Amino acid sequence: MARPARLRRRNCYHGRLSGAGQAGVVPAGPPPGSSIVSHYDHILCIGAGYVGGPTMAMIAARCPHLKVTVVDINQARIDAWNSDDLPIFEPGLDEVVRAARGRNLFFSGDIAGGIRDADVIFVSVNTPTKTFGQGAGQAADLQHWEKTARQILAHATRDKIVVEKSTLPVRTAQAMERILNHNGHGLRFDVVSNPEFLAEGTAIRDLEDPDRILIGAHETPEGRRARTVIADIYANWVPRERIIESNLWSAELSKLTANAFLAQRISSINSISALCEATEADVDEVAYAIGTDSRIGPRFLKASVGFGGSCFRKDILNLVYICRGYGLDEVADYWESVIAINDWQQARFVHNMLANMFNTVAGKRIALFGFAFKADTGDTRESAAIGVTRQLVAEQARVVVTDPKALDNARIDLAPQAGLVEFEPDPYEAARGAHAIAVLTEWKLYRELDYARILAGMERPAFIFDGRNILDHARLHAMGFNVFAIGKAPLKHF
Ligand code: UDX
Repeated sequence: MARPARLRRRNCYHGRLSGAGQAGVVPAGPPPGSSIVSHYDHILCIGAGYVGGPTMAMIAARCPHLKVTVVDINQARIDAWNSDDLPIFEPGLDEVVRAARGRNLFFSGDIAGGIRDADVIFVSVNTPTKTFGQGAGQAADLQHWEKTARQILAHATRDKIVVEKSTLPVRTAQAMERILNHNGHGLRFDVVSNPEFLAEGTAIRDLEDPDRILIGAHETPEGRRARTVIADIYANWVPRERIIESNLWSAELSKLTANAFLAQRISSINSISALCEATEADVDEVAYAIGTDSRIGPRFLKASVGFGGSCFRKDILNLVYICRGYGLDEVADYWESVIAINDWQQARFVHNMLANMFNTVAGKRIALFGFAFKADTGDTRESAAIGVTRQLVAEQARVVVTDPKALDNARIDLAPQAGLVEFEPDPYEAARGAHAIAVLTEWKLYRELDYARILAGMERPAFIFDGRNILDHARLHAMGFNVFAIGKAPLKHF
């Protein structure tokens, strides 16, 4: 998908960090017991995106003794980071940036100067799925990463630690080390892997209070020393016991594995949702029942129309590609099935709509409630709503999309369907004259609408397809709606 010069805005919800002004509260200096970090006080991050910007802002806010500079080839993005209108919205981000910007946090377009000054360089450039050549559609496109490595080499005048922050295939560090250390200048580069686990919408909370920080390095004296330097940075605010040290390859693989496991849980419960619909079991009850087993746990068991977001699909495809590269076809097939179930779940949702609306939606107005890939963000990357809309348009439905924050991105995603889809910020207007509503994002506001008023303006029979299981189905049914939820018996009037 083409990306505009500026990061796509995600003006999402206006929640604040709990704990007043945490970002402004900074410790006095390096953590006790740290002897190395003071020699490494110039931090550079290459890549001012979703990960680099917030992560560096948090490091700067929490480590006033360090100078943190963020550079990017995209000057418009840098200008936005230097303005009052940051290029991304995350609850609490403004406060963190304001606390440190101009003091020890700088956003700059001077990549060469930044590299020269830096002791530690975090690399946080994007690694999208490759769209060409070998591995197209699965492998990670590493061209930005390699260019960055060569840039570091071109401008470095002393030894540096290079930190992989981008999600990368296992053993990328090896390639980086080879490029960096065969330099003929006698310079030494230690490559460390420090994958990011933050989720959109909760990035600042995740950075502030992470479950863990993972740092991988070679088990050599130099590798261990580099790892300690990075651990010391985080130890300014993260308890030491949450800082996990591992070898390089484990750290790289853990990032892909974490996302694959999270996505797998969603595909697992979504697969069971189909069985629930067939048997009249209720998927929310099943999820609750299994989630109370402490070995399973309750999170990431919410059945839905399918997962989206920039990471899950990309990282699983990458994992699958790597497995195939090592001849592990069974392992690749296993993880690929997580994506297959997700695609199937989306298709199944549209099929249910069609089947229950008398096998035709042609010419029928259908209101899609939500287009973002999850609530509290305007981000639509890989959103299930994209596939659902395309399939409905292919069935010649008159689709109207509503979303409190994602309509701009929806217009970009649906450019090929221009003229065939309507965009309407007001859900009441979107539903007026519609045969059906499909809830595709779990925005809280959709729970709170006046559905009696909505029903009054709809065609009959009126349908609601709740792709997020957020509505009060019994109440809607009593009102007169025909209600179809994920993994639940339908509530119909015919
Ligand atoms: C994810 C990982 O959580 C994060 O650790 C990683 O660094 C980046 O990828 P993110 O993409 O921001 O973060 O969103 P996340 O909250 O994980 O949700 C992903 C998708 O799964 C969304 O579409 C969400 O709606 C869906 N989801 C999530 C479900 O359908 N059911 C669930 O139970 C949980």
